[in-house]
Amino acid sequence: MCGIIGYIGNRDAVPLLLKGLKRLEYRGYDSAGIAVLTDGQIHSIKKSGKVSQLEVLVDDTPMKGSIGIAHTRWATHGEPNDINAHPHLDHTGRIALIHNGIIENHETIRKVLEERDIPFTSDTDSEALVQLVSAMYFDDDELSFEGAFRAALQDVVGAYGVVAVCAEEPETVLAARMGSPLVIGIGEGEYFLASDASPIVEYTRNVIYLDEGEMVKLTPDNHSISRIDSSEIVSRGSVEIEMSIEQIEKGDFDHFMLKEIHEQKHTITDTMRGRLNLEDGTTHLGGIADFKPSILAADRVYITACGTSWHAALIGKQLIENYAQIPVDVEYASEFRYRNAIINPDTVLIAVSQSGETADTLAAIRKAKNLGALTIGICNVVGSSIARETDAGIYTHAGPEIGVASTKAFTAQVAVMTMLALSLGRRKGFDAGLGRDLTKALHHIDNDIQTILDDDQSIRKVAQDTHMVDNFLYLGRGINFPVALEGALKLKEISYIHAEGYPAAEMKHGPIALIDENMPVVFIAPRDDTYSKILSNIQEVKARRGIVISITDRKTRELDSLSDHLLEVPRTHKHVFPITASIILQLLAYHLAVLRGCEIDQPRNLAKSVTVE
Ligand code: AGP
Ligand code: GLU
Repeated sequence: MCGIIGYIGNRDAVPLLLKGLKRLEYRGYDSAGIAVLTDGQIHSIKKSGKVSQLEVLVDDTPMKGSIGIAHTRWATHGEPNDINAHPHLDHTGRIALIHNGIIENHETIRKVLEERDIPFTSDTDSEALVQLVSAMYFDDDELSFEGAFRAALQDVVGAYGVVAVCAEEPETVLAARMGSPLVIGIGEGEYFLASDASPIVEYTRNVIYLDEGEMVKLTPDNHSISRIDSSEIVSRGSVEIEMSIEQIEKGDFDHFMLKEIHEQKHTITDTMRGRLNLEDGTTHLGGIADFKPSILAADRVYITACGTSWHAALIGKQLIENYAQIPVDVEYASEFRYRNAIINPDTVLIAVSQSGETADTLAAIRKAKNLGALTIGICNVVGSSIARETDAGIYTHAGPEIGVASTKAFTAQVAVMTMLALSLGRRKGFDAGLGRDLTKALHHIDNDIQTILDDDQSIRKVAQDTHMVDNFLYLGRGINFPVALEGALKLKEISYIHAEGYPAAEMKHGPIALIDENMPVVFIAPRDDTYSKILSNIQEVKARRGIVISITDRKTRELDSLSDHLLEVPRTHKHVFPITASIILQLLAYHLAVLRGCEIDQPRNLAKSVTVE
């Protein structure tokens, strides 16, 4: 839930760390801080608010050093003020630490240490850890900084990605991982450490992903990885990261979200590259090829995810049931992990996650794995925890997604779900000709997306007419019900307008009470077999003077006359429509949020990757 960066080498660490924090700011942005080691002292500056506010302070109080750590926070314990910002220093000022996650037994640790008159200054759980490392280090002359760090972590319950430095041993940076990701970048006589590869990529492509339960000791020339509970060295080769700098920069766009919406004309093609077989009307998903028989023979299939990825899972259920006739249950990972779900070796669990780091989704996978299920990951981040912990997987290949509101990752997930459903379906005898209709439509989707992007002014016009309202309703039927849910989520995340998604026919069982002339209702209305039913639902809204915004792939006179605003996507296959309709909804949310003056890429209270429960 936060961004961590560390550096040891011979460069000027401060500008490097500040730049790194900016790259990581999408992970958490309520406060930020930096600490560097200079002349045997730790110098630290922290500030609530954005990294740019920290930067101003650092400019006023220049600091120098070639070893340092920095953090951008997403508060869990203690409000986001200057004192609670990381790094946290121990009471002697000789050890500094940054932490991502939650130290669950922080109160007990704090109590024990306060009884020893060790003063605490912040309200955070993280401070308990740095004070504990310090107590162990200074209590025992025999114990090295590494030894104290290891011992302290063994006393800690909770989740962490943690990095620490100590003025007594100024040539060392220590880090450990339990639940929150850490990547080590290997340079020439220098090392980088970060929550993800984005701040590292401009310096080196050579990285090591720290595994769960591991720690690392870095000096300028060496790294040694071990388990937290054993000092035995673990050997590990490095891997190359493929990310490019352009992918993580905004370019000419005002916001990452807008860039990522526009990128979809390419990213969807990237997701499908080499996977569509137009001739046979099927798809090939190499990552799960060997596991297809197990999926087809499964007793039950669960798809689990959170947030936007959960919406992609709901679409996946409809598609898999439609094409492959395999019953699928979709579960919020946070519920699934604690519920007594029926799981056995004949169960398949498909986990969907953009980041591949979502704590609840990871826990759901671990639970299913422990009970013998086959686990499959659908992830965007290569090398992420979910990608590594599942038995097999399908990458979505949408490229790094920086905007907190997921856009291109969602459409890539839906594309993967569509390909998965067709591939399973064809194995079970789904008609090749119908398969070809779908692969052909998928193949043309980039043109459809371009057409939508070219007509952005129509979407902006709808936003201009509706941006002053307090509520929105999104209604869709069948496979477009999750599209409605996703449209509503996008809107509330970035514009703070309250929005709900419902199956269109459910409206009259309650939400209809809300409809008046101030309530825009977005209807997802493709010309499929639900069309006439949707028209009746639109009539019901119209009769109560609601503002009707329709999204369709075929304009009819009736729909046109009933709609206050009608947004068209190119005519397409009914199972490709959810992707194109979603792009309209993303743009609508974007323009509404811009008109309301909201922070687009870093909406309040949110963070990109939810690595805590
Ligand atoms: C998407 O717009 C949200 N920010 C959020 O719901 C997100 O989809 C959810 O946290 C799941 O993340 P994941 O896909 O990385 O697991
Ligand atoms: N739990 C810690 C805090 O509230 C760390 C939060 C984070 O991951 O940013 O300070």
